[in-house]
Amino acid sequence: MEQILVLGMSGSLRRASYNTALLAAASELLPEGMTLERFDLSSIPLYNDDIRALGYPKPVEEFRDRIAAADSLLIATPEYNYSIPGVLKNAIDWASRPPDPPLNGKPVAIMGASTGDFGTVRAQMHLRQVCVYCNMFPVNRPEVLVMRAREKFDAGGRLMDEVARGFLRDLLAALFDWTRRLQKDSLNE
Ligand SMILES: Cc1cc2nc3c(=O)[nH]c(=O)nc-3n(C[C@H](O)[C@H](O)[C@H](O)COP(=O)(O)O)c2cc1C
Repeated sequence: MEQILVLGMSGSLRRASYNTALLAAASELLPEGMTLERFDLSSIPLYNDDIRALGYPKPVEEFRDRIAAADSLLIATPEYNYSIPGVLKNAIDWASRPPDPPLNGKPVAIMGASTGDFGTVRAQMHLRQVCVYCNMFPVNRPEVLVMRAREKFDAGGRLMDEVARGFLRDLLAALFDWTRRLQKDSLNE
């Protein structure tokens, strides 16, 4: 069986981001047969349809190609004002446009960390809504909601909380199964 290649991205550009640290934790908890690569969204310019009409800027082209090459996606989203950060929405907007929008039909796992008590639940629900239009297929369960992140990561940004690590491990295993299932379905079409 071939490896499942997952492209991970964090919706935070902050150096000490808990969400970027959550992606790093995912690298330690992958099931056998899964590889995780990461894309840094800091190179993605603001969406402008005039620019798109002239041709995708290089970093956007690279982002789109990396998504197309991946079997599935792993998105770590912060919650900004009860929604997803503009950085993440902007990147999704670029990847949702023709020709051959690379997000179309992509399996995706969603997770998030916040310093507050609700662990990005509202942002994750918004992200699921965006997935509908982009025709992405999110894993439903488990939900990885890392609340009170200051207590869950150590000073070096390592996820220390065993409960959160367990949910993350289960999410990655669910993404593995979900990706294989969708691959099988598309072979049978
Ligand atoms: C503009 C802004 C809006 C925020 N809004 C929310 C919010 O709606 N809900 C919440 O739980 N935390 C909110 N926060 C706090 C974030 O959860 C916290 O800054 C978190 O550490 C951001 O993720 P990061 O560590 O990956 O950068 C907000 C932070 C910023 C900068």
